[in-house]
Amino acid sequence: MIIAVDGPAGSGKGTISEYLAMKFDLLYLDTGLLYRALAKTVIRENVDPKNFQAVTNIAHTLTFQDVQDPNLRGEDIAAVASQIAVIAEARKVMDEFQRDFCRSVKLPYKGAILDGRDIGTVICPEATCKLFITARPEIRNQRRMLETQGTDGASPEALSEIARKMVERDNRDSTRQIAPLTAAPDAFIIDTSGLTIEQACTKAAEYVTQYCVA
Ligand code: CDP
Repeated sequence: MIIAVDGPAGSGKGTISEYLAMKFDLLYLDTGLLYRALAKTVIRENVDPKNFQAVTNIAHTLTFQDVQDPNLRGEDIAAVASQIAVIAEARKVMDEFQRDFCRSVKLPYKGAILDGRDIGTVICPEATCKLFITARPEIRNQRRMLETQGTDGASPEALSEIARKMVERDNRDSTRQIAPLTAAPDAFIIDTSGLTIEQACTKAAEYVTQYCVA
């Protein structure tokens, strides 16, 4: 079984995916971490995010270990991730990484769950189950600010800058030509705006149980 989960920043897709992975014994890949790991190396090596050749060369060197780096969160890395995510050649390399991941699933796992922006549309169009997780922009912003406040004790100015960058990133992700953030026509859409984490996870699990588990 393959579950594809897509949605914008702060929608709750990561939390829901982790929950479904545990509940249905699935191997989980947060594909945003791939783009973030690539961005981190681009920043460290002082590469211009618009230099598609240099960025693609770095993409070829990415390993699973890079994706497990605990310091990939944060809106600065995400902003660069979203800039390089428009590069078609780099995306092709990432696509292969994700498809290899799906092929690597072995027992005791019963399948894989991937979350990102283009999982249901590009990476796994044949997925058993597709979910699109969304929430109103102000709610997503608030969630991301609370997360950041909790970890960094950031100032109000820094928080509003984070909110601004998130909006900019969402716009870029939704309007880019290649693999834009969009719900697949056959995706089940969950708006988590008025839901608690528990309610959102339960709703997603009910759908998977009803339509995706044989
Ligand atoms: O955690 P959050 O939802 O804020 O972002 P993320 O999933 O870690 O993704 C960071 C950035 O990587 C996104 O803003 C996208 O530009 C890019 N991305 C993508 O293009 N395709 C994916 N499948 C996953 C992420």
